[in-house]
Amino acid sequence: MRALGWIDGELLILDQTRLPLEERWVHCRTVEEVAEAIEAMRVRGAPAIGVAAAFGVVLGAQKAVEQGRRISAAVREAVTRLAATRPTAVNLFWALSRMEKVAEVAGEGREAVARLEREAEAVMREDERVNRRIGRWGAELIPQRARILTHCNTGALATAAYGTALGVIRAAREEGKEVQVWVDETRPFFQGSRLTAYELVQEGIEGTIITDSTAAALMAKGWVDLVIVGADRVAANGDVANKIGTYGLAIAARYHGIPFYVAAPTSTFDGSVADGRAIPIEERNPDEVLQVAGVRMAPPGASALHLAFDVTPHSLIDALITEKGVLRPPLPDAVQGLLRGGT
Ligand code: MRU
Repeated sequence: MRALGWIDGELLILDQTRLPLEERWVHCRTVEEVAEAIEAMRVRGAPAIGVAAAFGVVLGAQKAVEQGRRISAAVREAVTRLAATRPTAVNLFWALSRMEKVAEVAGEGREAVARLEREAEAVMREDERVNRRIGRWGAELIPQRARILTHCNTGALATAAYGTALGVIRAAREEGKEVQVWVDETRPFFQGSRLTAYELVQEGIEGTIITDSTAAALMAKGWVDLVIVGADRVAANGDVANKIGTYGLAIAARYHGIPFYVAAPTSTFDGSVADGRAIPIEERNPDEVLQVAGVRMAPPGASALHLAFDVTPHSLIDALITEKGVLRPPLPDAVQGLLRGGT
């Protein structure tokens, strides 16, 4: 399963607003089309957004060459537009900065476009490789017959392939462990029930969808062995921004003595923000809370707040699983070590 592909100079995006009812591929030929796809969450998940943005830059450069314009200016415009799509996932800015660095030395003309294309393809390929490594490290933390609770979608659909937190679950299964997954439906976009459940069904992994508010009750019953989630940005001290609801899960897990793990590639770590308070949190259109599949669920005149992410303090996290290894508390020291180039 893939969230996106680069074919004949076009970015193909599997429209995640339509899943699981319809598998519809959107063809993006311009920077604006990619930006719209990210904003509308046709493509979503921190690593997948980064890959899409990288190809968005290629499309901008491609168009500039066709129109006889300078690539350097087109790349600057593309980066500015794509950076304004969603603020929280740092992978977006990480990928754009990689593309900018290549553009600085690539010069002009078709060969420069080809260099940018190779870089975007590398961003995509590396993400898959990195996720498989996260999976191998993380699988060591998954006991036999584990009942695992996860939130949002962190699988192949959220990445170039394989997934991060869901990749760990995949890897555990590949190692022959029996696992059972509690899938938080993840209001209001339903990444859990629409996307994670879709991936689990395709993989033949046992999954059960629960409403978000059921999670703590299952922990109290002793039905959850561990929680594993992804991340949109990890601050220098190990605080983690992830899908709204993650913080509540971490509190509930700690209260019940259940391990709480975060799986994320190093491209999700942002050493420039000291702690979680400095991570920009996206606020989305309240209509996404007020409506479900276009049907209004609240009376006329009612208002809503739609925070798309929250921050989990590092003190509630038992391990950060990266492609370079598993970071254990004290996380501020472990993350500093990782950012300096070790594990
Ligand atoms: O709003 P989304 O669906 O883009 O949010 C996605 C998440 O919060 C994921 O947990 C995170 O990006 C990690 S995906 C491997």
